[in-house]
Amino acid sequence: MLEKLGRNLPCWCGSGKKYKHCHAELDAKLETLAMEGEEVPKHKMIKNAEQIARIKESCKVNVAVLDAVEREIRPGMACSEINDIVNEVTYSMGAIPAPLHYEGYPYSVCTSVNEQVCHGFPTRHAVLKEGDIVNVDCSSILDGYFSDSSRMYCIGEVSSERRKLVQVTRECMEKGIACVKPFAHLGDVGEAIQAHARANGYSVVDTIGGHGCGIAFHEDPYVSHVGKKGTGMVLVPGMIFTIEPMINAGTAAVVTNKANGWEVSTRDGRDSAQWENMILVTETGYEILSW
Ligand code: MF3
Ligand code: CO
Repeated sequence: MLEKLGRNLPCWCGSGKKYKHCHAELDAKLETLAMEGEEVPKHKMIKNAEQIARIKESCKVNVAVLDAVEREIRPGMACSEINDIVNEVTYSMGAIPAPLHYEGYPYSVCTSVNEQVCHGFPTRHAVLKEGDIVNVDCSSILDGYFSDSSRMYCIGEVSSERRKLVQVTRECMEKGIACVKPFAHLGDVGEAIQAHARANGYSVVDTIGGHGCGIAFHEDPYVSHVGKKGTGMVLVPGMIFTIEPMINAGTAAVVTNKANGWEVSTRDGRDSAQWENMILVTETGYEILSW
């Protein structure tokens, strides 16, 4: 009786549709999967059409910022200038840089050069020189909705070793993205990334991962870039998360700067690269939101 009544009430997702015409069927399927021992997403990890539309608007800011950086970045530029560009473009589009003051983070963007893995500080002293590779990791808040993506930039002439690391890391992200579809597992993503990195003699940072994103900066689920096919959380339409592999030329071990508690570098001092994108699980596969 209660069950029947519930089916005519508005769906929990906020779509305004009756539950029976919205997520009732998915919930029944997830309940069965959960009984079979599968890890299934919580309702709060599933976005409705309105939320998805607003998150996509935020992603447009992120893309515009990364495009602006791409136009300006050059040898001799200090990473503080990248921070300035991020502020300028973000605020001019009516958005706010998400990293600023996030858990005490003191800048608007992360710039991670060569052996830096992530969360590099865009200071005046971090001057980019010919041959460097740098990840610019940008996150925006537009009307309360979050976006998060990053790209690698090669500064002037870059060695073939570094170019290969940048290229393979991008392929790792793409191979991870290609695994995304309804009822796939998060472990599929991790395995695909790990396999491609290993095949090229690289290692995958396994202590920092991707994350749900959109309503907040960092949401569940945690997205590991290593894993085993068929394991981990089941994916369903409406989930949005980042895939952001950090790939190291040497070993996977990383160290965090003790003085500032943020900047992460490879322990062996060898190079690291990262690409990040936000992915929506659709009815048929995936949509890339922040390219
Ligand atoms: N953009 C990073 C990510 O991909 C988060 C950086 S946290 C910050 O999750 F505070 F450093 F910005
Ligand atoms: Co991220």
